[in-house]
Amino acid sequence: MKIRVFDNPADAGIYAASLTERVVETTPTPVLGLATGSTTPPLYDALVSMEQYGLDLSEAVTINLDEYIGLSANHEQSYHHFMNHHLFSRLRKAPKEIHIPDGTAADLNEECHRYDSIIRKNPIDLQILGIGKNGHIGFNEPDDLLVLNTHVVNLSSDTIQANSRFFDSVDEVPRQALTMGVQAILQAKKIVLMAFGTEKSDIIAKVVHSPVRTELPATILQLHRDVTFVLDRDSASKLDMNSLLLSRS
Ligand code: GLP
Repeated sequence: MKIRVFDNPADAGIYAASLTERVVETTPTPVLGLATGSTTPPLYDALVSMEQYGLDLSEAVTINLDEYIGLSANHEQSYHHFMNHHLFSRLRKAPKEIHIPDGTAADLNEECHRYDSIIRKNPIDLQILGIGKNGHIGFNEPDDLLVLNTHVVNLSSDTIQANSRFFDSVDEVPRQALTMGVQAILQAKKIVLMAFGTEKSDIIAKVVHSPVRTELPATILQLHRDVTFVLDRDSASKLDMNSLLLSRS
């Protein structure tokens, strides 16, 4: 696991965008696993800027991690809307395929199978992740077990509370979501997890220093051979840098 700490989210976003550019430039049809949340906009801002200097995402396939159940694509808090607003509508040349789970599908199990077949056909080259304060990745919540495939998840009260800041009231936050499972995440060739702010410092320290356990879903990233944590000084503030340096030597 590599850990890169930046002065601020904007610089971190530029670094994550340059990792993305490297994948895009070295892969004929790059498959990018994308994430939502308040952490990823600095990455999307940087990708939009880099397009002016030659970055071309038009051969890319994008596959988003998750979507709320019951929110239509044009709902302001849907992840469809988020991605259009922060990335897709700002690009001069859109990716050639954009995939986001459909949280309004009549048959949600069928939608999960459909999404898994998209992932099987398009193995993910680079997976971007945020992290919930409870350690969730995508919407894979802390539990006794982690689900491998795309599935319907009941959101934890912590997540509903945390995400209520985007809604008028906590009652409006959907109680369920569709999320990619941990298998698709772990099968990505490269993973970049972004986290900013002191409110993420506890979870980042736990995820880096604790043993792998399903109550802290992001700890499974310790099993992956190419993971980079892209942090700002605040989210990195509780890491034990000495032990990290020792474990590297
Ligand atoms: C949501 C998303 C996650 C995201 C997490 C953190 O619940 N499903 O993919 O990583 O929140 O969000 P934020 O970046 O706003 O802290």
